[in-house]
Amino acid sequence: MKLIFLGPPGAGKGTLAAVVSEVYKIPHISTGEIFRAAIREKTPLGLKVQSIIDSGQLVSDETTIELVRERLEKDDAKNGFILDGFPRTIAQAEALAKIIGIDCAVNFDISDEEVVSRLSGRRVCKACGKNYHTDYMKPTKEGVCDKCGGELFTREDDKIESISKRLDVYRAQTAPLIAYYRERNLLKDIDARPASEVILENFKAVFPPEN
Ligand code: AP5
Repeated sequence: MKLIFLGPPGAGKGTLAAVVSEVYKIPHISTGEIFRAAIREKTPLGLKVQSIIDSGQLVSDETTIELVRERLEKDDAKNGFILDGFPRTIAQAEALAKIIGIDCAVNFDISDEEVVSRLSGRRVCKACGKNYHTDYMKPTKEGVCDKCGGELFTREDDKIESISKRLDVYRAQTAPLIAYYRERNLLKDIDARPASEVILENFKAVFPPEN
């Protein structure tokens, strides 16, 4: 399956993609996570994109498209993938269509109020990147990752000024992709409001796993 996860920041794309990747044995390719890893490792790419990401703006189409092109050439993406957070502009969608065809763009439907609540409560593991939430997905021990014992922190772009900027950017540049994929009969809406276990079950009903 070649899937795109489309939706506003904080809709739960990364949370569902992590589980779907395990169940369906396809890689979870998050452009946001690739950029954050580059920032952590202080690579030239990381140094270039850090202030853009912290302020909630988009990295340039040119840089992002090249990154995805290279990632999709790797062997693990030959039998399918989940693109989480890419494409985010019409130019990126058109570039992707020239690289590879997709089976479906899954559109996460959720209100702005819920987005703000999810992002302001999100905590992320510094070591492995796993997501938690102060109310909805608490770690067993406060501030410590259940998976690897790493320290949990708040992403710079989850501060309230950046959240509202990201929502503006989403509406202006990414929301038009809903119509873009609907016109091509490639869009499926998913209700992103329920608990993540329920969303996974709904997802499996639409995309039955092979075994
Ligand atoms: P990116 O990392 O892609 O950020 P995003 O799209 O804003 O998505 P998020 O990671 O914030 O949210 P999510 O939908 O994955 O939600 P999550 O599962 O974490 O991109 C970051 C930045 O990189 C961008 O702003 C941009 O600068 C740059 N960038 C990336 N891609 C780019 C591109 N293509 N072009 C240009 N620039 C690009 O969940 C959120 C919270 O809610 C968590 O705390 C979670 O525990 C909780 N939660 C999840 N599901 C549920 C649920 N069902 N019920 C209750 N709580 C839930």
